[in-house]
Amino acid sequence: MDQKNSFLTDVATLRARAKQSLDDGAATFTYEGDKDKAIELLQAVLATEIVCVLRYTMHSISVEGLTSESVAKEFAEHAKEERAHMLAAAERIDQLGGIPNFNPEGLASRSATEYGEPGTLVDMVKQDLIAERLVIDHYRELIRYFGDKDPTTRIMLEGFLAEEEDHATDMHDLLVAHEGTPFLD
Ligand SMILES: [Fe+2]
Ligand SMILES: [Fe+2]
Repeated sequence: MDQKNSFLTDVATLRARAKQSLDDGAATFTYEGDKDKAIELLQAVLATEIVCVLRYTMHSISVEGLTSESVAKEFAEHAKEERAHMLAAAERIDQLGGIPNFNPEGLASRSATEYGEPGTLVDMVKQDLIAERLVIDHYRELIRYFGDKDPTTRIMLEGFLAEEEDHATDMHDLLVAHEGTPFLD
C-alpha cells in the first residue's frame, strides 16, 4: 500500500469486502457503530417522532375551534415535519437491518415525549414546548453518541435537532404572544 495514503484501503480489498456479507446491506465492514444498539436507539427516536406527529395533529385539530387558524396551521406544519423525521428514522432502521416498530401497542412508553391532551391554546403550546425541549436534549446526546461511529445517523439527527430547535422557538414565540410571558410554569 502507498505509504502516504495508508489510511485508504486498496481497491481489491474494498471490492472483496463489498461482496461479503451482502445480508448486512448498507452496514458494511467499516461501520464502526454497534448496529443492534443503533437500531434500539432509533426505535425510541421513531416512537418519539410518531408521538410528536400524533400530538401536533391532535392539537392542530382541537385548537381550531378555540382561536386563530394561524395557530392550527403552525401545529399542522410541525406535524408534517415530525412525520418526515418519523419516516427518516424508520428508513435508517431499515438500512441498518432492523424492522421499524410502528406497533401502537406500547408506543407511549417507547417514546421519550408524551402525547399530551387537548386544552386551552396556551396549555397545548406549553405541552409542545416541553416536548421540543426534551427532544432537543435527547437528540444532542444521541448526536454525541453516534459521533464518528455512524456519521449517517448522526447527520440525520443533526437535521432533526435543527428543526426541533425551530419548533421550540415557534412554540416559545406563541407562548409569549398569547400569554405575555416567556417562562414555563
Ligand atoms: Fe421531530
Ligand atoms: Fe419538533
